[in-house]
Amino acid sequence: MGQRGGHRLGRGLGTLALAALAAVGCSSSPPPAAPPPTDPAGPVIAFADAQLAATADSLAPPAYPVRTNPDGTWLTEGPDDWTAGFLPAALWRVFERTRDPVWRDRAERWQSPLTPETSHDDTDLGFKMFMTFAVDHQLTGDEAAKQTALAAADTLAARFDPTVGMIRVWDDRDDTTQYQVNVDAMMNLELLWWAAQNGRPQYADIARRHADRTITDLVRPDGSTTMFGGYDQNTGALQRLYTEQGARDDSTWARGQAWAVYGFATAYRYTRDPRYLDTARRTADWFVTHLPPDRVPYWDFSVPQAPPEPRDTSAAAITASALLELSQLDPGRAGDVDAARGMLASLSSPAYLARDTPFRSILLHGTQNLPDGQQDSGIMFGDYYFVEALNRWERQVGPATQIAG
Ligand code: GLY
Repeated sequence: MGQRGGHRLGRGLGTLALAALAAVGCSSSPPPAAPPPTDPAGPVIAFADAQLAATADSLAPPAYPVRTNPDGTWLTEGPDDWTAGFLPAALWRVFERTRDPVWRDRAERWQSPLTPETSHDDTDLGFKMFMTFAVDHQLTGDEAAKQTALAAADTLAARFDPTVGMIRVWDDRDDTTQYQVNVDAMMNLELLWWAAQNGRPQYADIARRHADRTITDLVRPDGSTTMFGGYDQNTGALQRLYTEQGARDDSTWARGQAWAVYGFATAYRYTRDPRYLDTARRTADWFVTHLPPDRVPYWDFSVPQAPPEPRDTSAAAITASALLELSQLDPGRAGDVDAARGMLASLSSPAYLARDTPFRSILLHGTQNLPDGQQDSGIMFGDYYFVEALNRWERQVGPATQIAG
């Protein structure tokens, strides 16, 4: 993209986002000077649908869109990439909202080549196989999709080690010299909790043990998170805390924090265990109170909170969607809807929306992995969570136009 996050903020934040900032009580932002915006989120949903349709119909599996190239086209990977499920997952969310069979056809066309991934020994199977096949089953009742998701749950559960009490990520299952677990892996647990309700009751305990140790080791007392724990597989002892995608071992990587909020909200939805609700609240509060004035985080909360550090719009989209879920799970909790509104309004503004740009993504300014040079691009999973959050808004709060405040 050649430009770093937030470069368009000065001219980009219109009344839509400013109204939202006022709504979340951001003291550093000016009060809205104008009446309610004329650019509500209704057209944003139409834009998102159009971008997804163009992506789905101009590319073909097995070239799955991951993030945008500098010219705005999609960089693609094969079905084995952990992100491969996000396009079909987003297509299912449009089908969920519209019930238009055209979207079901698109989703199935992109989902079908992922079927062999059931045996891919990779913990990010939760992302790839729950949000596709399990959601397909939830939306359509398709029995074959259910069986595919259950087979993926079997593969994921096989990576659980009872001595560590967690599911290992990334590394070779047979490597006993290291055992790595990241906070991201909370996102894989929904596959297990769902499987537990669909014929694999034994997986609930695996998910619970993993979540419990994530709280103990990766969630700090103040509600921030560390990305990785490294364990001794022979004793189960925690050896070190570190990062792979954040700025420092002791920093708070923005998307890791977002995964924690979303992961523990989901854990509470399935279990109603108050510890998970408490952890979702603490991590959400930490995220929201550390946001910059325009409500879209920089890629890591511990770097200077100013350009040229890039933003990560995906972290905002993930957290906005999770906050909407939390607002339903914990209706007594004030502020979640307003906090989600603030993030969604900012993401819907010209500063972050790809409208009127050559970018094929819905959102701009995501950072997939800065230490690997993947920064400031559209990201398919950021788009997915934005679409999911807009759906949740419409289902729970009202017309998306209300995002404007
Ligand atoms: N491993 C998921 C992520 O990069 O956020």
